[in-house]
Amino acid sequence: MAGQVNVIGHPLVQHKLSLMRSKETSTSTFRNLLREISMLLAYEVCRDLPTTPTEIETPIAKTMAPVLDGKKIVLVSILRAGSGILDGMLEILPSARVGHIGLYRDPKTLDAVEYYYKVPEAMGDRDCIVMDPMLATGNSAVAAVDRLKASGPRSIKFVCLLTCPEGLRAFHSHHPDVPVFTASIDERLNEKSYIVPGLGDAGDRLFGTK
Ligand code: URA
Repeated sequence: MAGQVNVIGHPLVQHKLSLMRSKETSTSTFRNLLREISMLLAYEVCRDLPTTPTEIETPIAKTMAPVLDGKKIVLVSILRAGSGILDGMLEILPSARVGHIGLYRDPKTLDAVEYYYKVPEAMGDRDCIVMDPMLATGNSAVAAVDRLKASGPRSIKFVCLLTCPEGLRAFHSHHPDVPVFTASIDERLNEKSYIVPGLGDAGDRLFGTK
């Protein structure tokens, strides 16, 4: 089964992404842009979330109106760069619960090594949105979703800013049932497993660590 990929081609998203790609963009601007794009991505990712008709009273009349159960949504950030997306998503989904998965890339093998895992209780009736700005080799995304699936959530979606054909292939060969939402599918990975043209190291650019 081929996995589902949703490229968000909206001009606002694409414009902000172009600014983020530029090496001249400062850390604070990069961080703001990622927060803004994440709010726009949240709009697409939440398109099919279930709502419950709920009675409310307007100043004019009683009516049944659709309401999201925000507490059923779990935003799962893959540390450390995932927190850049998390900030924007939380502005749109303030009642969402939050999980964290700490993974680093072993510099020799490029395998994902877990150092932290914390998600809410009772995952069985929750919808998870997993986030990491860069779906590159796919190793971290696959490891994070493996770990999350063991907790048995109702559904899982994966959101990233950028990906590439290699990353999508690797991810969907393990998790064909998890749809990916992204602002761009770039050309390829280079020999150091960076996305080309990409935007460099998302974590370093977000936190100003290089
Ligand atoms: N992680 C990044 O931060 N950038 C890439 O290009 C690939 C992985």
